[in-house]
Amino acid sequence: MASTEVFPLEISERDILNEANECPVDRPVETQPLSQEHAFAFWQKDIPQPYWDLTGAEIIERIAEARRKLGSRAIVLGHHYQREDIIQFADLRGDSFKLAQWASQQEQAEYIVFCGVHFMAEAADILSKPHQKVILPNMSAGCSMADMADPDDVYAAWDELQAAGLTGIIPVTYMNSAASLKAFCGKNGGIVCTSSNARKVLEWAFEHGRQVLFFPDQHLGRNTALKLGIPLEEMAVWDYTLPFGSLGGSTAEQLERSRVILWKGHCSVHNRFSVAQVEAARKRYPDVTVLVHPECRMEVVQAADLDGSTEFISKTIAEASAGSKWAVGTEINLVSRLARENPDKLVFCLDPVVCPCSTMYRIHPAYLCWALESLAEGRVVNHLVVEEETARWAKIALERMLAVR
Ligand code: 13P
Ligand code: SF4
Repeated sequence: MASTEVFPLEISERDILNEANECPVDRPVETQPLSQEHAFAFWQKDIPQPYWDLTGAEIIERIAEARRKLGSRAIVLGHHYQREDIIQFADLRGDSFKLAQWASQQEQAEYIVFCGVHFMAEAADILSKPHQKVILPNMSAGCSMADMADPDDVYAAWDELQAAGLTGIIPVTYMNSAASLKAFCGKNGGIVCTSSNARKVLEWAFEHGRQVLFFPDQHLGRNTALKLGIPLEEMAVWDYTLPFGSLGGSTAEQLERSRVILWKGHCSVHNRFSVAQVEAARKRYPDVTVLVHPECRMEVVQAADLDGSTEFISKTIAEASAGSKWAVGTEINLVSRLARENPDKLVFCLDPVVCPCSTMYRIHPAYLCWALESLAEGRVVNHLVVEEETARWAKIALERMLAVR
C-alpha cells in the first residue's frame, strides 16, 4: 500500500490543539487498549478489529513473538518523543538526524519500522537501500508544523520572490517537511537541516548564496540566524496565509535587505513555552539550568541557558553531574523519560501542563503489533513509499546535509 492512499489527512492547527487539550497529563505509562484511548481522534481506522481491544500485556507478548519470527529482518526505530510503551520496543532511539543517519546505515534489515512521524519515515525511505521497506505503523502520525508548509504555497512564494528579482536565494528546509519540499531544495541548490545541524547548514547556505528562504519553522530559522550574528532587521517573515502577490506581507525592499526569509510556521508543542515559565523555574530553583529545544520562540531560547536537539537534550542531561537541576522545554514524553532515567538529578518540564506531541502519540502499540505481525506473516502494511522522482531530488538535499560537518 502506498502512503498516498491513506495520507495526508487534512488536520488543522485547531484539530491538533483540541486533541492536545483533551489529553490528560497523568496518562499512565501502561498501554490502554486502542479502543479506550478516546482523546486521540485521528487513528488510522483500517487497523483490523481484533487489534482494537488488545491489552498491554497481550500486545507485549505478541510483539515479542512477531519479532522472534522476523529476527534481524526488521529493525524498530523510535524518536525520542515516542510514548514509553513504544520506546520499550525500539532497537535504536534518537533525534531526527540520528534516525535518518541510522536508516541509511542499517543494510541488514529488510524492514525499517519507524516509530516517529510521517516526514521522518519519508526521510528514512529516501535514504534507505532499494531492498528495504519503511513501515510507519500509523499513517496518520504527521506533524502540524510540517503541514504549515504546503508545497504549493512554497512554490508560489518562490515564484513571487523570483518575480521580485530576488534570484540566487538558497532554499533551506527543516527536516520537518514533506518529501516534495526536500526535493524542491535538491532541485534549487538548497539543503535540508535538522535541529542538530541548523547552524552548520545555514553557514553552508551562506557560502552558496546571499539569502536564505527557511521553512517551515520560523523559530528554528530565527534562533539559528541570530547565533550566526544576523540581526533581526535582516530577517523577514513570510506569511503564507496572505494571498498570492502580497510578497508574504513584506515589501520588495524589505525582502531585498533580508539575509533570511522565515516561513511563518511553528510547532504547536514548543510554542507553548514562555519566558514566564523560565522565570518561575529560576525563582523556584536558583541553581537550575534551563535547556530548551530551538523550536521554542526566540525570547524563550534567549532566556534559557542552553538549547539543542532532542539528542543534545538527552545527552546533556545524561552526562550532567549528580544533584544538578534541569528545567526542560520540550515534549513531555522525553522530559518524563529523562526524569526517570536520571534519578540522581532533578529533571522537570518548564510547562507544568504540557501535553505530548499528539501526532507522535498516534503510534499506539497496537499499530506496531499489527505492522510487525503482518510482516512476520509475509504481508506488508503501511509501507511508506516516496515517489521515485521526488525521492531522487530529495536525496540530493538530504545528502548535502549529511555531508555538512
Ligand atoms: P529533533 O530533530 O530534535 O529530534 O526534533 C524533531 C522534532 O520534531 C522536534 O519537535
Ligand atoms: Fe511536529 Fe512539533 Fe510534534 Fe515535532 S513536536 S513532530 S515539530 S508537532
